[in-house]
Amino acid sequence: MTLKNDLLKELESNRQQAISGQKLAEKFGVSRNAIWKAITALREDGYEISSRTNSGYQLAGDCNILSPAAVRSYLPAELASIAIFSYKEIDSTNTEAKRLVNEGLNETALILAESQSSGRGRQGRSFFSPRGSSVYLSIVFHPKSGLSEAVSTTTMAAVAVAETIEELTAEHTEIKWVNDVFYRGKKICGILTEAVTDFESGTVASVIVGIGINIGTDFPPELSDIASCLSPEQVNRNQLIATVSSRLLKMANAPQDKAYLQSYRTHSLVLGKKVNYFQNGTSYSGTAIDIDDAGGLIIRLADGSTSTLHSGEISLRLAE
Ligand code: BTN
Repeated sequence: MTLKNDLLKELESNRQQAISGQKLAEKFGVSRNAIWKAITALREDGYEISSRTNSGYQLAGDCNILSPAAVRSYLPAELASIAIFSYKEIDSTNTEAKRLVNEGLNETALILAESQSSGRGRQGRSFFSPRGSSVYLSIVFHPKSGLSEAVSTTTMAAVAVAETIEELTAEHTEIKWVNDVFYRGKKICGILTEAVTDFESGTVASVIVGIGINIGTDFPPELSDIASCLSPEQVNRNQLIATVSSRLLKMANAPQDKAYLQSYRTHSLVLGKKVNYFQNGTSYSGTAIDIDDAGGLIIRLADGSTSTLHSGEISLRLAE
């Protein structure tokens, strides 16, 4: 890591107080002049860093620049050396993750972007991904498990996002089956999980969990009724990325621990509600009654029978 990155990490972890040039120089074993030069370079990158003669350097409270060093400063020790790739603009962080896996990436990694020119959503839809303050993140890991275990990752990711937003903003979130996170009654986050399979062993070689969280988004008219966002003042996006990633990776590393399912049920926007869905070209209506241990949605139909959905989409039925 360069001095600039070390310094940024230190300033990120000490946003509440200024640190003197002397202390920083001692910590990194360099001269105060080297610290001053690194601070100048960070300012040139757009970081707003105040400096006061008697107290030292401090990162502005509202500085929200996306940076691997800043994300790293919020990661727990066991993820401190995780690979992080960050782009100003990319077609899609999920597509980039696939390219990296195909080129041999075999460690856990985060791929971040300020904007996406071809952000991808579920069912072949596009995902609105303008430059600004939003989060476009792909988390890549290599579970060597079967497909059914990997499918649970999508449920875990929804829980990781819902819990993180609540932890960092103290605002309530909900999850619409299967993995849309809602805030103030509208969708704030979409999740697209993709798997790279190893045909020889029949296992999932890599899982790519793509997460888009709207922050300070200026939505076009067709999205403004259905999408919501946090404001950039509510959350530090580097901290948001680190917290979502560490929560998800913790759950994915212990798939036998099903505690996340209880959190999923508690956050569910659909349990107890009337829903519609399509299966093999036929439309069905029923009441969502539970989430099973594989993340499937159990629906009671009008004739009293139950059906469990493992994929696809549902829509909520308006009161009749
Ligand atoms: C959906 O709601 O349909 C899923 C949207 C997933 C969007 C994220 S943004 C980061 C990652 N890269 C993509 O191209 N898509 C996912």
